[in-house]
Amino acid sequence: MSVSAKFRPLTARRTGALQGVAGVPGDKSISHRALILGTLAIGETRISGLLEAEDVLNTAEAMRRFGAEVTRDGEGAWRVSGVGVGGLAEPADVLDFGNSGTGSRLVMGMMATTPITAVFTGDASLQRRPMGRVLEPLTRYGATYTAREGGLMPLTLKGAADAMPIDHKVAVASAQVKSALLLAALNAPGRSRISQSALTRDHTEKMLKAFGAEISVEPLDDGEAVKITGEAELKATPVDVPRDPSSAAFPLVAALIVPGSEVSIPGVLLNGRRIGLIETLQEMGGNIKVVNARESGGEDIGDLIVRHSQLHGVEVPPERAPSMIDEYPILAIAASFAEGRTIMRGLEELRVKESDRLAAVGNGLKACGVAYEELPEGLIVEGGEMQGGATIATHMDHRIAMSFLVAGLASREPITVDDISMVATSFPDFKTLMRSLGADFAS
Ligand code: S3P
Repeated sequence: MSVSAKFRPLTARRTGALQGVAGVPGDKSISHRALILGTLAIGETRISGLLEAEDVLNTAEAMRRFGAEVTRDGEGAWRVSGVGVGGLAEPADVLDFGNSGTGSRLVMGMMATTPITAVFTGDASLQRRPMGRVLEPLTRYGATYTAREGGLMPLTLKGAADAMPIDHKVAVASAQVKSALLLAALNAPGRSRISQSALTRDHTEKMLKAFGAEISVEPLDDGEAVKITGEAELKATPVDVPRDPSSAAFPLVAALIVPGSEVSIPGVLLNGRRIGLIETLQEMGGNIKVVNARESGGEDIGDLIVRHSQLHGVEVPPERAPSMIDEYPILAIAASFAEGRTIMRGLEELRVKESDRLAAVGNGLKACGVAYEELPEGLIVEGGEMQGGATIATHMDHRIAMSFLVAGLASREPITVDDISMVATSFPDFKTLMRSLGADFAS
């Protein structure tokens, strides 16, 4: 399941106007959750628009190992026959989540209150990422674990035999941790309460409600608390996965920075907790129109029309970070082409993503001749033109690869990324889609 270790470089060159329709793939967060809740439900959950990328396929495979029947009927069309809350089987072998923090952490939560044992591993990037942030609070439900020093994979998690509900404040601004704790609560008797200061993405809460869980959200002076009743009976529910705003970010910024461009991106998820990048780029002067705003399966979606724009630098409010946490690498590219300075703060979580994204972006900008300052928890970019003419180290990080390939479409000299293989974890058709808009990519 892990991606081959062989490096596959790709070079992007300055191109003429980008034009056309960018049908980006399904949302990664919602795709993982649809498979997991389908497994925990009784009956058959039908999913359309599922993201068929390595991260999500690894979650699908894990669900089979826990006893669900997971079937692919056609492109994006999947069915999950669930085993019900408490009905998970013990996986016979090690679960390999590849590059995926979301898949692995959510599944830890899913099984932590069922008396079974599972072994979790992943690729070299995932083996460096902190799992204690999920495992420690899961012990409060009664689960136990053994991990490598520092809470690292490979690790073994033993679900609680007599789970108890918890009242817990999540210390980090992470939807993954919150979601893992909500999923664990499903098989603990009584009501659990999970609170958090940061307003992180709420797809788990919304989907749990749609599947029939007793769940409510209470606003707090400092964040919010989610209350959820355990020993839940979830009912299979159809899920139509909207297109991923975090993938849309790449053709979107490409259209803004390549002169003469006009690109439309239909059916994008516009959940209020995911649109920080669009808000920020509009504040920077980006011509981004949202048309045909509508609701689909309890989520807001809309079509985006993006035209080339002269951007200007802004100060991004740090409290906006959770709503655009995966978008800072591509925002840093947009900022490099903007007039003036862009200040981004509150980004400590970027240090523990698929790579240390603050360092990876900073080093990439430096190689491309952009003046910047890397802060312990932020980045300041001095905009203008980008020289390019560099090879970028992607550190097994799909978003670093895609961000610098977009940069190369507008920089003076070509930009090469050292390895595009990780792009398959979230956006397998990235190269083809960008080429269909006019991008000049060469191997
Ligand atoms: C995700 C949450 C975010 C994000 C990740 C997907 C999710 O991680 O970076 O790509 O689906 O819950 P954190 O919640 O750990 O910040």
